[in-house]
Amino acid sequence: MTIWTFLGRQWTVLPPAPKGDYLKGIGLESLKHLVQASPSKLILCVRSIEATEKILGELQSLHPDLKAEIVFLDLCDLNTIKVLPDELRKRGVEKIDVLINNAGANPGNANKPPDFTKDKYEKTFQINVLSPLLLSLILLPFLRESPTPKILFLGSGLHASADVKLIESSLKDNKSIVGAFNEKDGDWYNNKQIYGISKLLLQMITRSLIPSLHDINIITVSPGLAITNLGRDFNFNLAFYIFGAPFMLLNARSAEKGARNVSSAVALADQSYDYWAECGPSYSESSWLSSGNGIKATKAFYKEMIEEVEKISPGATKGLIV
Ligand SMILES: NC(=O)c1ccc[n+]([C@@H]2O[C@H](COP(=O)([O-])OP(=O)(O)OC[C@H]3O[C@@H](n4cnc5c(N)ncnc54)[C@H](OP(=O)(O)O)[C@@H]3O)[C@@H](O)[C@H]2O)c1
Repeated sequence: MTIWTFLGRQWTVLPPAPKGDYLKGIGLESLKHLVQASPSKLILCVRSIEATEKILGELQSLHPDLKAEIVFLDLCDLNTIKVLPDELRKRGVEKIDVLINNAGANPGNANKPPDFTKDKYEKTFQINVLSPLLLSLILLPFLRESPTPKILFLGSGLHASADVKLIESSLKDNKSIVGAFNEKDGDWYNNKQIYGISKLLLQMITRSLIPSLHDINIITVSPGLAITNLGRDFNFNLAFYIFGAPFMLLNARSAEKGARNVSSAVALADQSYDYWAECGPSYSESSWLSSGNGIKATKAFYKEMIEEVEKISPGATKGLIV
């Protein structure tokens, strides 16, 4: 092989990892940790049934007593969340001790307009913010059957550097924040920024849930930068290979290490925590969240989201202190 062929091959942009029967990530690694604690039953709510069955089979060959249910759930389809309580009851589930809202999506680094779900919400907003909230509230009756219920949300350190312009302008103009992030005309949208912003919006929700739900421990877990499939929609260009790849190699954790943050919160968090990182109680690095505008926006956004959930699933927010 000549040096030119070698360089040509090495610099060829490879296609993204195949989708479908290919699972890795913080969810899978957390699962591997959790099965070692002999849970009485695992309920795996996923959109990839076949791949999950395969993984469960492998886990059950190592842990023959492991009981589990696999249930279809697509956070882009709110109806799959709404029917979940009935589906769980049909399968004999009455109680949930720990709910882990692991699923999340990053739409990548392309300059492109927003995608909308069939529920008419911007896709990243629905997957990362609305659906975890709706799911958590809809499952409250199951959680309340547990003596020590916990809800985990997967946050991200990127919330602290997220652009707050659209949130602040909505607040200033007395306009809906939910409306602003789901506006059909995509002028407001920045595909590269939306992931960090969605995690900020999620952080605004989870810290509001803590005083609203006295009887449930709410923990926002930050797994840190970890090598998973989260970058599946990124275009890996030359700049990525020169700057991004060495940065990732030097600084990113394995998915398994990221997952230690989840499993440690399941095992050790004995109260609600606004932020859980490096396997222990931590703090959000967003000074904006503690600023006057941040506090006002958090309150306004939470109220709107509770109203939104109530519209989607009447009765789901009953008893919440808003
Ligand atoms: N990796 C990081 O550096 C990092 C840092 C901070 C926070 N996080 C957060 O950690 C969580 C796990 O992410 P990850 O890094 O493990 O990424 P990942 O490998 O891409 O895993 C994301 C998971 O979410 C599921 N998912 C995505 N969209 C879904 C939908 N519409 N309905 C149901 N499930 C859906 C995926 O299901 P499929 O398997 O079917 O695709 C996958 O299991 C996310 O909330 C992410 O934002 C990750």
